Amino acid sequence: MASPVQYLPGKEPHAREHRLIFRNVDRAGYDPSIDCYLKDGGYEQLKKALTMEKSAIINEVKASGLRGRGGAGFPTGVKWGFIPPTNTKPVYLICNADESEPGTFKDRYIMHQDPHQLVEGMVISCFAVGAKLAYIYIREEFPMAAKILEKALNEAREKNFLGNNILGSGFDCEIYVHRGAGAYICGEETGLIESLEGKRPYPRIKPPYFPAALGLYMSPTIVNNVESLCHVKHIIQMGGAEYAKLGTPNNTGTRILCVSGDVQKPGYYEVEVGKITMGEVIDVLCGGLKPGRKLKAIIPGGSSAKVLRADEKFKLKDGRELGIMDIPMDFDTMAACGSMAGSGGVMIMDDSRKMSWVINNLNAFYAHESCGQCTPCREGSLWMRKISDRIVDGKASPDDVDMLETVANQIEGKTICAFGEACSWPTQSFVKKFRDELKADCKPEFTGRIVNEETLVAAAGLVA
Ligand SMILES: Cc1cc2nc3c(=O)[nH]c(=O)nc-3n(C[C@H](O)[C@H](O)[C@H](O)COP(=O)(O)O)c2cc1C
Ligand code: SF4
Repeated sequence: MASPVQYLPGKEPHAREHRLIFRNVDRAGYDPSIDCYLKDGGYEQLKKALTMEKSAIINEVKASGLRGRGGAGFPTGVKWGFIPPTNTKPVYLICNADESEPGTFKDRYIMHQDPHQLVEGMVISCFAVGAKLAYIYIREEFPMAAKILEKALNEAREKNFLGNNILGSGFDCEIYVHRGAGAYICGEETGLIESLEGKRPYPRIKPPYFPAALGLYMSPTIVNNVESLCHVKHIIQMGGAEYAKLGTPNNTGTRILCVSGDVQKPGYYEVEVGKITMGEVIDVLCGGLKPGRKLKAIIPGGSSAKVLRADEKFKLKDGRELGIMDIPMDFDTMAACGSMAGSGGVMIMDDSRKMSWVINNLNAFYAHESCGQCTPCREGSLWMRKISDRIVDGKASPDDVDMLETVANQIEGKTICAFGEACSWPTQSFVKKFRDELKADCKPEFTGRIVNEETLVAAAGLVA
């Protein structure tokens, strides 16, 4: 039976939050040990799932309407259904713990503070999709989380929540932690799979579009985000239909928003999907903008999402006209407003921000992270960085802003993986929405450079 929850002083969730996945994050007296987890009803949903038909679990996940929290918002149950019914090869499950999208910082808290929630979600998911072997692919920059997970997996093995004949059910399952080497592209699921196979993480050519058809070791593989896999436990507990009552139609459940930038209280907030507007996120959850400042722009779903301008009006197909503050935080409305809810990383920019600096910062990141496999992305991301470098260095002409857009247009839709969109959408949207400001910055006396060689080298850990 779950006990009432108390949180650490100053870390209490906001009244508008609905804590499902983050229930144990910042909880007073809670630690990542299995003892704590078991005291609070841990692994009860695994016991329940092991008594269910596999197809019934998949149906519950479908009924829940859960959409992936890793970026694309693809329905999890539908993805699980892509494993070919005639398959005779081993099936694998991979937990994508790369969390490398700038602005996103939720998965690390789950792994640090509540690792058994992830392990339970993964074992249930393995059982449902028929996987006996699973991997947690974790980014190199999370060494502490990797250690915590290893410990949690050992604890789970000792109690037979993992291993052979789990709890006498006849189901065998193992989970291993695999550490990446620090590359954004290893978050892209086929790059991740190549890396897990010990190769250079070059994303694979599509089709097949889903590793569920052909993935790790050329076998059907389900890749899901950390947060997505944690939801599975709660779906088993509540039942898919009950879970689907959280959130809004087609945008069900809760999700963790990671808010950064120019607000009074940046941080993580778990909310029902679509039940809160962007304005409420800023003013109610985050305590408003900084004193005396005006909102200028928002990147709503991780750095790859298109920027929204504070004074834009969004006309939707259903006749609604929304201002930026009216947008409900859900997948569909954010897409209808021309951007995406993505990985939940909401970046707020006030009128102190120079857009030429912001786009230069983003371009530096993408130029550094392109895997280099396809020409438009490899060359284009570098040229976007060079051109935006020129702007912040006071060496650009206003025509360079248009050229920036041309280069971005030559990348979108012409690459092997969605990194092409991830790097071109920011540039396209910043130029479209802040063209005049960027052009006005193209003058010799302009010095907007904040990202320079020294900070990049230091960020890459090449100097002390
Ligand atoms: C360039 C790129 C980087 C990505 N990085 C991540 C990541 O760090 N974490 C993640 O869960 N998904 C990431 N994704 C999405 C994955 O490819 C995949 O769609 C996701 O892990 C599926 O899980 P979900 O259905 O639970 O969201 C990335 C995609 C791209 C194109
Ligand atoms: S789009 Fe970029 S990151 Fe993706 S495969 Fe091509 S070069 Fe690599």
